[in-house]
Amino acid sequence: MQGIHNIEDLRLRARGVLPRGLFEFVDRGTEDEQAIPRIQQALEQIALRPRVLVDVSACSTQRTFFGKPSRLPFAVAPTGAAGLLWVDGEVAVARAAAKAGVPFTLSTASIVSMERVAAEAGGRLWFQLYMWPDRSMSYELVDRARASGYEALMVTVDTAVTPNREYNLRNGFSLPLKITSQNALDVALHPGWFFNVFARYLLRSGVPRFENYPEKLRRSLADAPAGRRMPKNDSLTWDDLRELRKRWDGPLILKGILTPEDADMARRCGADAVVVSNHGGRNLDASIPPIEVLPQVVDRVGRNMEVYVDSGFRRGGDIVKALALGARGVLVGRAPLWGVAAAGEAGAARALQILTEETTRVLGLLGCPDVDRLSSEFLRVAGTPVPAAAPAPAPLASHGAPSRSLLQESS
Ligand SMILES: Cc1cc2nc3c(=O)[nH]c(=O)nc-3n(C[C@H](O)[C@H](O)[C@H](O)COP(=O)(O)O)c2cc1C
Repeated sequence: MQGIHNIEDLRLRARGVLPRGLFEFVDRGTEDEQAIPRIQQALEQIALRPRVLVDVSACSTQRTFFGKPSRLPFAVAPTGAAGLLWVDGEVAVARAAAKAGVPFTLSTASIVSMERVAAEAGGRLWFQLYMWPDRSMSYELVDRARASGYEALMVTVDTAVTPNREYNLRNGFSLPLKITSQNALDVALHPGWFFNVFARYLLRSGVPRFENYPEKLRRSLADAPAGRRMPKNDSLTWDDLRELRKRWDGPLILKGILTPEDADMARRCGADAVVVSNHGGRNLDASIPPIEVLPQVVDRVGRNMEVYVDSGFRRGGDIVKALALGARGVLVGRAPLWGVAAAGEAGAARALQILTEETTRVLGLLGCPDVDRLSSEFLRVAGTPVPAAAPAPAPLASHGAPSRSLLQESS
């Protein structure tokens, strides 16, 4: 991890080792790719208002997720690709998360099965669910997640139909995997990935599979056509959430909402938490940046449920901004993925370490000794007046309760 000082360094390292098709699948957005820069601009629009002469010699980053303490205010988001970036990549990221004290969310579309991740990584595990038109297949996964000891079920709802990722049509990356002269050349130019990852799978057990899929759908990633084997979410409704609530007695998280109205519906259907997310800018290109919606969602449901946010978090300072706007925690997707692509478990661990160090440093420079004391008094959103002065140190704010002044300004 020499020379890796921030998440962008990890990204560039990942770019060097991965075939272009795979790197772009992780890195890029959708259609005209407006969502990703818009997410970054929205985060940049928020400035921090530091207080001074506050004892920050022992800053606390501890947060409570679903009633249990978590050492850090972030968690690993579900990403289907880790096992393609590194052999058993999901286990590598989950182990790094467990060691860092960070919850890890396993995707339905992972290469390693949920049972193996639970057995080999430990730590705090959440399971992300995509649904099949035949709901019984999804309920099978819910039962397996419970039997394997997963703490929370996260249902992703922002992918009702397949997003339009045109660069993948151009760079030759597709699922099912197809060998073309273009991607064969791409792989040939990245022999490290081929020998360290793909060839190792081939020698061990053949072309990888989505191991969480129900047995009858579990075929190699190269098997065509994907057709009905892929989860399909276009017929999902709120009734499905109500049904999942009946079947899952642990924390139920709805991921991928961008309006306070949907957050409220989630609450009424029995969800314990929402993730305000636009899928890292990978799905609906013109979607509103999650950080812009966050205060409204917190205002609407923050007293009754936990509100998480993701998309575009690359710096500890960005995490601090989200917490100050009332998020219970932040999910990070690409940061640990770039880490695992660069150096397996050590790379994922480095990503989490960077975010931890940056978060702690920003708290110190901000004059805030405890993440639980973050509030919108520490923020100024561009175009809005500076919030009224707060005494230093700021009073202990309850989770998820940004000050009214900022909420009104930014709503
Ligand atoms: C390569 C990749 C695969 C993803 N796969 C899933 C998935 O299987 N399920 C899901 O709910 N979200 C998935 N996501 C979205 C992430 O959970 C998360 O919302 C997003 O990555 C957050 O943005 P960030 O990458 O900028 O941190 C994926 C994201 C990436 C980059």
